[in-house]
Amino acid sequence: MANITIDGKQLTVKDGITIIEAIDQASVGLPRYCYHPGLSIAGNCRICQVEVEKMPRTVIACNTRVAEGMVIHTQSEKAKDSQQSVLEFLLANHPLDCPVCDQAGECKLQDYYMEYGLYDPKFNDLKVKKTKKAFPIGPTIMLDQERCVLCTRCVRFGDEITKTNDFGVFNRGHHSELDVYPGKELNNKYSGNVADICPVGALTDRDFRFKMRVWYLGSQDSVCPGCARGCNIEVHYEKSRPYHLKEKRVMRLKPRENQDVNKWWMCDEGRYAYKAIDDNRIKKTRYPGGPTTSAETLNGQSEKVLEAALEKLAAALKGAKPGSWGVIATPQSTNEELFLVRRLFRDALKVKDLAFWAPGQEGYQDDFLIRADKNPNMAGAKRILALDEKSGDITSVVERAKKGEIENLFVFSTDLAKVFGADTLKAVRSKVKTLVFEGPNGNPTADAADFVLPSSSYAEKDGTFTNFEGRVQRIRKAVEPVIGSLPTWLILSRLLFLLGQKVDYLRADDVFDDLAKTEPAFAGMNYKTLGKGGTVWAK
Ligand code: SF4
Ligand code: SF4
Ligand code: FES
Repeated sequence: MANITIDGKQLTVKDGITIIEAIDQASVGLPRYCYHPGLSIAGNCRICQVEVEKMPRTVIACNTRVAEGMVIHTQSEKAKDSQQSVLEFLLANHPLDCPVCDQAGECKLQDYYMEYGLYDPKFNDLKVKKTKKAFPIGPTIMLDQERCVLCTRCVRFGDEITKTNDFGVFNRGHHSELDVYPGKELNNKYSGNVADICPVGALTDRDFRFKMRVWYLGSQDSVCPGCARGCNIEVHYEKSRPYHLKEKRVMRLKPRENQDVNKWWMCDEGRYAYKAIDDNRIKKTRYPGGPTTSAETLNGQSEKVLEAALEKLAAALKGAKPGSWGVIATPQSTNEELFLVRRLFRDALKVKDLAFWAPGQEGYQDDFLIRADKNPNMAGAKRILALDEKSGDITSVVERAKKGEIENLFVFSTDLAKVFGADTLKAVRSKVKTLVFEGPNGNPTADAADFVLPSSSYAEKDGTFTNFEGRVQRIRKAVEPVIGSLPTWLILSRLLFLLGQKVDYLRADDVFDDLAKTEPAFAGMNYKTLGKGGTVWAK
């Protein structure tokens, strides 16, 4: 260990770490462009200048190691002077683009100029104009070479993380330019991350570009529902306009650092899947004898209509013969919701035909983040429902429904036509007396159902997912549920209540507390102890 001092603060840090790592541990601000903790050290932007007592010149913090007794200053006149001079050189050929730059508001060049720069520019008349302004370099990213500060973060990301070697710095000195290799395009499964790590507006996300100024965005911590990895994310949503004026509510997803799950990264499939949130949303509750037109349903009455549907469904569940219901649950649901599926169907109604595993739905997998299982909560579903791939396979429930051996079927989110084909859905529909569909997005199974109960998407509710390693992580409500829908845990709580069961859940965390009391894997956990990084089940 080494004893050092940073801006008067005494610290004991690990031997051999760099000054910038020590500075970050001490939560002291210091500008940086080329340094990124997930990439190798380049030391090329020179902005992270600090003064170290007994050293003749300032040094760069990202490529200088700490030593016993070091006294470091980040804010001394000498340090600030060096930082400011470097910034002036970096801005020498940079266009004065901020008002029309999509990075404005989250640009490190803009931020540091305000924090550390504020000099009188000496290069205004000498700017070298580089010609290639914003052009696409692949399906997800635009490059504006004029704005690049040649930090090489994107180069190192391609070389070290995806190993796709996409970028290079071409030409020398004043004429150096960042580009993709000739004849190549940026097209890998993690390409969106380069827009996140580019500290300026040189690499921007084609999907988000010019959709919204970043200061109109709110941010909520959550977890990607795209596969069993459970990458930690921030959900960025529009916070400025009233609901009815918004075209889109969730504007983009960004990775959130979690060293145990996804480090600093996420895949493109997960990043752009946010569009499905508002895709073909079910906005109308349907039930036998209920209102049929949108006007009747939505005219300020949608909550009452959903409540009436739940009352009618509860009566049907109560009066049903034992063994007449089958249930297809889903590993897209949260732990809380699956716990209530268990309480309602297995414990209260003694349903035996309960399954959750849809066969043949696996996708691409790699040895980095992407998992073949595209469900965010397969591990939680298996544990809570005490089923596995074989005993929880929905095929047997569907087959029994097709033969008329199950009278009524309750389906959560799954589209039977997608998994088994349209003929199977038709055959099931012709045999079952009551088909219930509960889910956020419409599909042929919802179209064929007698009861349709609209539920909230993952961005509209609180809850937890358990990833493939048994890590329980929180999702949080970022936007209001679509009018007329409720979170699944609330729909199930209402049904339990209407069936005369004891329910005292006001929030999703009350359900989680109950789950933690009854399911040993979750013992001792609550929303507070899960924190930002989640908690792994005890082995
Ligand atoms: S494009 Fe961005 S990340 Fe890449 S070298 Fe230029 S400034 Fe750095
Ligand atoms: S790897 Fe999986 S969890 Fe991570 S961003 Fe991609 S889809 Fe989402
Ligand atoms: S951040 Fe240290 S030289 Fe670039």
